[in-house]
Amino acid sequence: MRSRLLQRNLREDPPLALSGEGIFIRDSNGKTVIDGSGGAAVACLGHRHPRVLAAMREQMDKLCYAHTALYSCESAERLADMVLEGEPGGLTHLYLCSSGSEGTEAALKMARQYHLERGETQRSRIISRRQSYHGNTLGALAASGNAMRRAPYMPVLAEAFSHVSPCYAYRDRRDDESEADYVARLAAELEAEFQRLGPQNVAAFIAEPVVGATLGCVTALPGYFKAVREICDRHGALLILDEVMCGMGRTGTMHAWEQEGVTPDIQVIAKGLGGGYQPIGGILIAGRVEEALRNGSGAFMHGHTYQAHPVASAAALAVQQVIREENLLKNVGRMGTLLGERLTERLGNHRHVGDIRGRGLFWAVEFVTDRATKATFDPKLQLHERVKMEAYGRGLACYPMGGTIDGRHGNHVLLSPPYAVTAAQVDTIVARFGDAVEAALAGLPRL
Ligand SMILES: Cc1ncc(COP(=O)(O)O)c(C=O)c1O
Repeated sequence: MRSRLLQRNLREDPPLALSGEGIFIRDSNGKTVIDGSGGAAVACLGHRHPRVLAAMREQMDKLCYAHTALYSCESAERLADMVLEGEPGGLTHLYLCSSGSEGTEAALKMARQYHLERGETQRSRIISRRQSYHGNTLGALAASGNAMRRAPYMPVLAEAFSHVSPCYAYRDRRDDESEADYVARLAAELEAEFQRLGPQNVAAFIAEPVVGATLGCVTALPGYFKAVREICDRHGALLILDEVMCGMGRTGTMHAWEQEGVTPDIQVIAKGLGGGYQPIGGILIAGRVEEALRNGSGAFMHGHTYQAHPVASAAALAVQQVIREENLLKNVGRMGTLLGERLTERLGNHRHVGDIRGRGLFWAVEFVTDRATKATFDPKLQLHERVKMEAYGRGLACYPMGGTIDGRHGNHVLLSPPYAVTAAQVDTIVARFGDAVEAALAGLPRL
């Protein structure tokens, strides 16, 4: 009988994920698969980590829910203290919600309210980037530049949002342009967008420090985020960095912005915060932003029933404790370098691999029909999905995406294993992935 659960694919039911252990997932096909992407770069501690499970049980034995209109809770308080220890980058407060999309919504509203509190009521415009992803709720989708996900909903997306180019050097830097020239061109484009909107009308610029699923682990060139920060500061707009996917250690530092030499005014976090043990996301807020609200109306005009949920917070607190106590970011750095090297050895010369890129344990491979022209495969072939299925057949879960360039053309696949991945597991992941890529390409019609 067909599933009554509305699946992502309404024509085909997926297998049931039955149990997990460390980097492995066992499913109803009888397969045990290496979770090479932690879902969508979520399971940073792998599955069934005993300390996280114990922390959740302990919290559940005490209390599962209390409304935040009357109460705070211990686990959320401790989580805020831990995440904000030392006030990284001047970030002083944490607002907790239940997903990345909710985090983006909170960030956008916080930015708007910050300006209202300061009497700049005209600041309502948000500048974002093309081929970005900030979430699927309508506000977050309006901010997102992911053309494929936006397309059906265009008529109902708010018009307060506009989009500039991402920093996507592999395709967009011209041959006659130095890296610095390209960064300067992007900065000029952003400046021009501020001028078009009227700089006094812009509330915030939002971007992913490392673009996750939509472009496939694209890092910015040196100096790009510094230029962006300078433009925002000069025009009094806030800088929102969306680290839902690339943050909380995924790229080798706790925050991806640490490697860009800038700090955000508001930062969105989610996936690696709770590692998938519970649905949780949030925003980190700079002191001056929180102060504007505290000294102004005294309340954030926003809220969700499940914000700062006790069990979700307890799970995230345990995840964050393990990351710190086991010094896992060191392993992310070392194994990330190894993963990049192994991918390059295995696929770097492949005629259909255009680019292998990433940072920390966050890597993607982009496919082309021709390395010189960087031409893409026919979207109908769904090459990324074929790679996913070939990988699954070989015992590897990875995260595929199509429409890399414009929401329609281009294919890439992400690998983002847990932070404690071993060198031997990296080798196995790359061996299975390399075989899957070759099999998927060999299986294409008329190649
Ligand atoms: C950068 C980024 N922002 C926001 C989101 C939305 O998060 P969620 O799916 O938890 O709502 C995602 C999800 O993939 C993401 O990668």
